[in-house]
Amino acid sequence: MSRVPLRPAILEAVEALRTAGVHSPQADAELLAAHVLGVDRMRLLLVPMVTLDQLEEYRKLVARRAERVPLQHLTGTAAMGEIDLAVGPGVFIPRPETELLFAWALAQLEEIGHEHPPVVVDLCTGSGALALAVAHARPDADVHAVELDPEALSWAKRNARQLADEGDTPIELHEGDVTDPAILGQFDGRVDVIVSNPPYIPEAAQLDPEVMDHDPHRALFGGPDGLDVIRPMITTIARLLRDGGTVAVEHDDTNGSDVAALFAAHGGFTDIAEHPDLAGKPRFVVARRILA
Ligand SMILES: C[S@@+](CC[C@H](N)C(=O)[O-])C[C@H]1O[C@@H](n2cnc3c(N)ncnc32)[C@H](O)[C@@H]1O
Repeated sequence: MSRVPLRPAILEAVEALRTAGVHSPQADAELLAAHVLGVDRMRLLLVPMVTLDQLEEYRKLVARRAERVPLQHLTGTAAMGEIDLAVGPGVFIPRPETELLFAWALAQLEEIGHEHPPVVVDLCTGSGALALAVAHARPDADVHAVELDPEALSWAKRNARQLADEGDTPIELHEGDVTDPAILGQFDGRVDVIVSNPPYIPEAAQLDPEVMDHDPHRALFGGPDGLDVIRPMITTIARLLRDGGTVAVEHDDTNGSDVAALFAAHGGFTDIAEHPDLAGKPRFVVARRILA
């Protein structure tokens, strides 16, 4: 079987992706090569030569990435915490921006300890990213996740099945609206930790083609000010949390103080604090429930 060097193909790909306006051409060119070869990106140097079939497959993927198809739709996976999730058309791609919110949730669970199984709820779960990453890190947790969109929910079910097959504690998925006054009524006042990355982008925002053309619009937009889902969801959060239970809600980088103000205006929360993401942008607000 004849083989050709990989390096020139990667250099060619970097140039094509840069010309197409892809934000991280080097990383994406290498990650696609690693995907085709079935190796970790760090081990690409160990595969200097590739078959003609591999080269053709690589060039096809690079061409699609140059059309601004998201990298994760081409590789089929995205990461959250220590897990990989299957993603594709019809579901939001989990973002690195959410990793610090996830780390915050694990720290909350660590504080609660291991004596009783903590109850965790993920509102607007999409692919199941936060719920499944929590279940993976804390097998003792009783994890529930809510999603409105049947297509996103089918991705979450697929991921939940896969991770349970690999030995993780199964989570429970609920189809429903996080603003519904009856959603998860059986857990009223019983939840220890709530995590949520809801739709929060203000409608007029300018987005990259990867986002605008490939993430479901219902996953992205939160009305004119980005708060259409967050605003009513705070009532759901207040109803579900036990006294002392905590919540983290991700938000647009333009409205951290608005989300903090919504928690303050409710009157049933204390320890309200704004947190940045890995890029230093305002990204999530946390709060603790206090019952009057
Ligand atoms: C930004 S995505 C986040 C998905 C996931 N939490 C993550 O971090 O990858 C928001 C998700 O909320 C869902 N969603 C939108 N409005 C909702 C609502 N009112 N109730 C439940 N889910 C909703 C969308 O379908 C989408 O899957």
